[in-house]
Amino acid sequence: MLSLAELTAYFKAREIGFEIQFFSGEFFALSFDKDFDASSIADLGGTIKIGEVKAKFPTETVKEAFLKKNKQAQKQIIESLASSGLVDGMAKSSEKILFGVSVYCTENTLRALSGGIQRFVGSTVKDELADLGKKSKFMGFSNDRKLAQLSHVEVLKKNLVENKAEVLFCIGRTETWVATTIAVHNPFEFQKRDIYKPNQRKIFGMPPRLARIMVNLSSCMPGKVLLDPFCGVGTILQEALLERAMVVGMDVNPWCVKAASENLEWLVREYGLEDADFRVLQGDVNKLVEKIGQETMDCIVCEPDLGPALRQVPTGPYAEKIVLKLEPLYSGFVEQAYRALKPGGRLVLVTPYIKTRAGQAVTMPISEKLGNLGFKRVYVFSKDMFAQSAGGLDRLVGASSLVEMDERHMIGREIHIVEK
Ligand SMILES: C[S@@+](CC[C@H](N)C(=O)[O-])C[C@H]1O[C@@H](n2cnc3c(N)ncnc32)[C@H](O)[C@@H]1O
Repeated sequence: MLSLAELTAYFKAREIGFEIQFFSGEFFALSFDKDFDASSIADLGGTIKIGEVKAKFPTETVKEAFLKKNKQAQKQIIESLASSGLVDGMAKSSEKILFGVSVYCTENTLRALSGGIQRFVGSTVKDELADLGKKSKFMGFSNDRKLAQLSHVEVLKKNLVENKAEVLFCIGRTETWVATTIAVHNPFEFQKRDIYKPNQRKIFGMPPRLARIMVNLSSCMPGKVLLDPFCGVGTILQEALLERAMVVGMDVNPWCVKAASENLEWLVREYGLEDADFRVLQGDVNKLVEKIGQETMDCIVCEPDLGPALRQVPTGPYAEKIVLKLEPLYSGFVEQAYRALKPGGRLVLVTPYIKTRAGQAVTMPISEKLGNLGFKRVYVFSKDMFAQSAGGLDRLVGASSLVEMDERHMIGREIHIVEK
């Protein structure tokens, strides 16, 4: 849900009116008050594809068509696709048209049939193009592919966005949306910032996509001042600089200060950010206000120390010990952060989320301290963002933090968002 949280924070910061019609782990359906600029996908760390909806029908029709093989329901889907204008954009190409179909399925009963649904939609589109006198080639998949979906890399490499040639067939619990892909995440840009920057650190480094999500969660906007007082090699600072924020970094380790400065200089050259405004200071976070002054920052975004790299899943008591050892660092930092932030400023803070052998999670008990200092928790999801039909809001609305956990890792990240 981190990606949906990022989207809502991004739209709210820019006063873009939206309503969430549906959300699941597979896809979100949103409606907007006015035209939405799909190129903003480059500003988002967690959104992989954006599609423009062309047709919508009840999921019941999809079940009838594919579970019960009802000919009438299949015909309804064919007619709905035909009247949607889905192939009009593709048909403009003068050459043989290469197109693809990706199926995103939230409905368990239909999931195993995704490959068949994809081929059905593909042959419908092919027939329609043939009716318009156009030759086409459908990008089919080998049977061993787990999901009936094109990756964003395939979409990019085959120019499917420019040619309006990817169909997204998104099956929700009650409704199904059919869309044309209008933007895709460019992994090469994020990868470039990850592996081609001059200085890297394998163990402590944060992926640029997560850094961008956190920057967006902080309501960072062009011209705002963003601080990362545990900046390491500067991943968060890089992403904030690309959002045209003024950035300030700090680290206790002099090597990191040099490394982050060089990385930011590289970024400025690489992306032609002539007006970029950044500085990186050396210092201990306990002296933060002394270094940067009181009420000087709009946003503070950071990942302090998360504890030692673990080789095996720890016991509960060992995980508690790790957290206890880190607690003074976090405690001292949030006091400084409160003083450094301008009124209304936001702190986005990662604390460790440690899985234990008993299957439980040990976390940093920071909420009370934040509350006592005067911070107000920011709830990224509120009821008014969702259409009545969206359903399943309880696990989102009122969630006080977000968790990012890669199944392969033993320490995940709990992301807190608070405001002064
Ligand atoms: C988890 S790393 C941050 C990684 C960073 N996000 C990046 O992508 O490189 C934490 C950083 O906090 C710094 N640090 C630890 N204790 C500190 C302190 N008391 N004051 C300032 N920096 C500190 C470490 O030197 C380390 O670079």
